[in-house]
Amino acid sequence: ELKDNTIIVVLGASGDLAKKKTLPALFGLFRQKFLPRDCKIVGYARTKMDKAEFDKRATSYIKGTEDPEVSKALDDFKKALTYVAGGYEDAESFQNLEKHLKEIEANYQSKECNRIFYLALPPTVFIPVAKNLKENCYAPKGGINRIIIEKPFGKDLDSARELLNSVKQYWTEDETFRIDHYLGKEMVKNLLVLRFANVAMGACWDKNSISNVQITFKEPFGTEGRGGYFDEFGIIRDILQNHLLQVLSILTMERPVSFAAEDIRDEKVKVLRSIPPIERSDTLLGQYVSANGKPGYLDDETVPPNSVCPTFAATTLWIHNPRWEGVPFILKAGKALNEAKVEVRIQFKDVTQGIFKDIARNELVIRIQPSEAVYLKMNAKSPGLYTRAIPTEMDLTYKRRFTDSKIPEAYEALILDALRGDHSNFVRHDELDVAWKIFTPILHWIDGQSGPRPRPVSYPYGSRGPKELDAFIGKYGYKRGDAA
Ligand code: BG6
Repeated sequence: ELKDNTIIVVLGASGDLAKKKTLPALFGLFRQKFLPRDCKIVGYARTKMDKAEFDKRATSYIKGTEDPEVSKALDDFKKALTYVAGGYEDAESFQNLEKHLKEIEANYQSKECNRIFYLALPPTVFIPVAKNLKENCYAPKGGINRIIIEKPFGKDLDSARELLNSVKQYWTEDETFRIDHYLGKEMVKNLLVLRFANVAMGACWDKNSISNVQITFKEPFGTEGRGGYFDEFGIIRDILQNHLLQVLSILTMERPVSFAAEDIRDEKVKVLRSIPPIERSDTLLGQYVSANGKPGYLDDETVPPNSVCPTFAATTLWIHNPRWEGVPFILKAGKALNEAKVEVRIQFKDVTQGIFKDIARNELVIRIQPSEAVYLKMNAKSPGLYTRAIPTEMDLTYKRRFTDSKIPEAYEALILDALRGDHSNFVRHDELDVAWKIFTPILHWIDGQSGPRPRPVSYPYGSRGPKELDAFIGKYGYKRGDAA
């Protein structure tokens, strides 16, 4: 349930994440009347600016303002915004923020006050901010206090533990909401329903029917000025260790006892604990080079010269439990590829001793974005007087089937969950810990901590990825079918 008298403080309010995601999502919720009654939004950042300037920045990414309804909602939204400038390390700045919060709360009818702190900040200041908020801006007894944080949560198992434990000194697990925005995506949420509300899916969801699974993330642009951050982290920390592993855990976990947050997260942790660290031999690394007038990774001025940071990675994970023993799960992600696409592709086994020859395997594809869809590649009789099996599809493309529905933005869904206090779609501390265990050895190898750094193979900007990719996938039994 939503609580009246809630203040949402966005720290790092003039940064990229706040402008592109957090503030537009808050506006989206406001416009759809999902924010608590009388909710106020306080921007906080180092930059000194007045309210008018903050309003301008905060709303610079709002789309569709030519529509009078949107523009009217935006005017109302601005009335809920205020701004405070301050540092992240010093207590005084936070005492000043506290004064501002108290002033807002003085106007509330009841004494209750609830505070949500959204840290749209680089991880270097997570700890001082967590400390300062707790010591200076914690809502008085009886009110709700929540902190929302976002990756990168460390760089490997040890650094993640250190970060987690430091934040934990000030904020309890119950008060902490760790965002992985893929958990807010409609099609990721749909996995639970597809799997557990359909007998037909449940029955073939295991090693007996499934040959291999691919979870793929493709982006058609490179680092484009974000090379400083990217080069320090690489594609595995940016996408695989969090977004794709989250998808994998929901795809493969056992049925939770209930829909409750802890029941779901217990099952996710359990399946992740059955995955050993990734082997080097199960890994393919790539880096994009200039092609068709587009710059290569090393041409980005924000990237250190001669960097061997991978911008593409394919890794295969194995789950050692009775349901999944022997099934390869290939996670692959790359920047500067030929298209924007995120999907799960489950390839089923061949029909045994079939009476039909040379038929394509069944594939269930869950397209997370763009154009959300679930489709099943299957064989059907070619219409006519001869009996011949041809590949075709059962297609549930959302924009055709659910014509009147709007698919929510991931950040809208997650902020609403945090306001309601629902942890289901947030990452629990032990989930993060086990995710790092799976990836840390391979990351240390890539970082050169266990010998010379591996050289990624190159692939042209705008291509499907390294030319070695098809052989890599083939090695795990993927058979290219001829269905569309
Ligand atoms: C972020 C990564 O977590 O996810 C970015 O840091 C990436 O590099 C982004 O572009 C992708 O998110 P989405 O929602 O556009 O798929």
